[in-house]
Amino acid sequence: MIKEKVKTGTPGIDNMLEGGLIPGRPYIVSGTAGTGKTAVAMRFLIEGVTAGEQVLYVAIDEPPNEVKANMESFGWDISAVHVFDATSDILSYDKTPVRDVSTERKVTTFKMLPAAIRRTSEKGPADISVNTIQEILKQEMKVTKYSRIVVDSVTSLRRFYIRTSEEYLALQSFFRLLSDLGTTTILTVQLPEQIRTAPESQMARGELRLHKWFDPKGLVRAINIEKFRGSCHDHSVRPLKLSDEGITVKVAAPKKRGESKKPCPEDEEPTTEAPTEPTGEAKQAEAPGTPAPPQPESGPPQEMPPPPPPEDGDGGESSG
Ligand SMILES: Nc1ncnc2c1ncn2[C@@H]1O[C@H](COP(=O)(O)OP(=O)(O)O)[C@@H](O)[C@H]1O
Ligand SMILES: [Mg+2]
Repeated sequence: MIKEKVKTGTPGIDNMLEGGLIPGRPYIVSGTAGTGKTAVAMRFLIEGVTAGEQVLYVAIDEPPNEVKANMESFGWDISAVHVFDATSDILSYDKTPVRDVSTERKVTTFKMLPAAIRRTSEKGPADISVNTIQEILKQEMKVTKYSRIVVDSVTSLRRFYIRTSEEYLALQSFFRLLSDLGTTTILTVQLPEQIRTAPESQMARGELRLHKWFDPKGLVRAINIEKFRGSCHDHSVRPLKLSDEGITVKVAAPKKRGESKKPCPEDEEPTTEAPTEPTGEAKQAEAPGTPAPPQPESGPPQEMPPPPPPEDGDGGESSG
């Protein structure tokens, strides 16, 4: 039985998700650099702020001041979003003494951030581990009941901070904690190429995959729902635009107002940490005796060029 869904704040994405995300579960937003992962994740937090919720952004990739400036370019005010600066001072694979960053950094809001971008700590290098992040989240949840959390990105957390050969187990434990917290979470995942999947995909209850590629007219952006356990969803690739007005996802046939929501055959609780099913082929069969749910078109995505080819090189930022 689906509880009331959690809106991502981007109407087109909510349409693709048949209303939004299922609350209390961890999801990932994946894509190569510059596809809009931080934007989609932050929009999800802003939606929570608008609804009067407490929301937390864990900054691992980019210093919070940079994130704030970048999000302002979409016309967004993120000052009420709580932020924990978990960016590394040393960004290296160096395994020399790791000091627990949680003792010297605190959760604040974007509004209260100091103006300067934090540089290397005066006290020397500080670092953070996945355990530290888990502890911080547990402690923070005791103080403030966050309904939405974003970890941006779990790829960097894995690359720089999980200092153990048991990386997969550490990630699994992290996902289990997120489920236990009862918070709806988005973790961003940076993919090296379009066609790759990340280990996090197997643990998340759903994945929004972002794409960008070039056609003769220029840069094209798109989104698809790679997986979404426990709900019907759109299986098409949809055009996505980033502009001064934020994120726009075009969906041809939004659900009619007042139309009753019928449960899908997929509306079952998943077994915890189950391996991923083959993607993109979720069943769409109808439950007997109930009207069919509104289905997304099954043809090629409207106004969309052919699917993106794998990107060249290191997948770095190439858009303007
Ligand atoms: N006002 C804007 N109009 C159009 N594109 C923008 C605007 N502001 C930022 N962008 C684009 O957004 C992209 C970065 O989005 P971001 O969410 O940070 O990506 P990611 O987290 O996937 O690396 C960049 O490609 C940038 O060019
Ligand atoms: Mg980002």
